[in-house]
Amino acid sequence: MSKSEKKVASYAIIGFGKIGQALARAFARNGIEVSIATTRDPESFASAAAAIGPGIIPTTLAEAVKADVIFLAVHFESHPDVAKALPSWQGKTIVDVTNAYGVPPEKMGGLPSARFVAQAFTGGKLVKGFNHLVAAILDQDPAVHGGRRVVFLASDDDGAAAEIGALAESLGFAPVKLGGLSEGGLLVQAHGNSWGKLIFQDLVKFD
Ligand SMILES: NC(=O)c1ccc[n+]([C@@H]2O[C@H](COP(=O)([O-])OP(=O)(O)OC[C@H]3O[C@@H](n4cnc5c(N)ncnc54)[C@H](OP(=O)(O)O)[C@@H]3O)[C@@H](O)[C@H]2O)c1
Repeated sequence: MSKSEKKVASYAIIGFGKIGQALARAFARNGIEVSIATTRDPESFASAAAAIGPGIIPTTLAEAVKADVIFLAVHFESHPDVAKALPSWQGKTIVDVTNAYGVPPEKMGGLPSARFVAQAFTGGKLVKGFNHLVAAILDQDPAVHGGRRVVFLASDDDGAAAEIGALAESLGFAPVKLGGLSEGGLLVQAHGNSWGKLIFQDLVKFD
């Protein structure tokens, strides 16, 4: 297969609240199509999707999870319900945008939240990312004063981190890879009632 024939990945965002809509706007700004799904009938948020852009496709959860890359933009507590949508997540990349703030560590078996989430998505490759900024900032054009707003990415799968890094670039952000979920990734995960050190750090990279 030549480079020009390379299969284009398909994208979906699960959750269309504050973060889901901010992500959808980033896709729309860059003309990249993305499906969106919640627990509701897609008709109920079709006009909100159309207001963001023609490439924002409202659909059902069952349809949305057919995408190659799935952004998890639901509350941490809802991730098992999303995970149940497929018996296996083999071949898929899940971008975990959740913040498990206030969740007692013992409820996650002492694991970093992203590793706990990863366990639910059997067979999938998980990248923690796009979660360190408040929605009102993530929502803005990441081109800032000639630089690009930073998003942090962490994954135990280097290939998946590279894939989401390339997508982040296409969305106009400057990705910074932090390494594995239990190492650098801890900087962007909430632990009980405290935040990882990089959460809320609104940084801009100048090339
Ligand atoms: N808000 C922020 O500034 C911010 C910043 C960084 C990270 N985050 C994280 O991002 C996640 C989303 O936060 P948010 O502020 O966007 O929340 P939100 O505004 O309450 O939106 C949550 C969305 O998830 C959907 N949803 C809930 N359960 C679902 C399920 N089982 N399947 C599919 N969709 C489901 C909801 O739709 P329906 O209930 O209508 O189906 C809604 O569209 C959270 O984990 C949060 O910690 C938030």
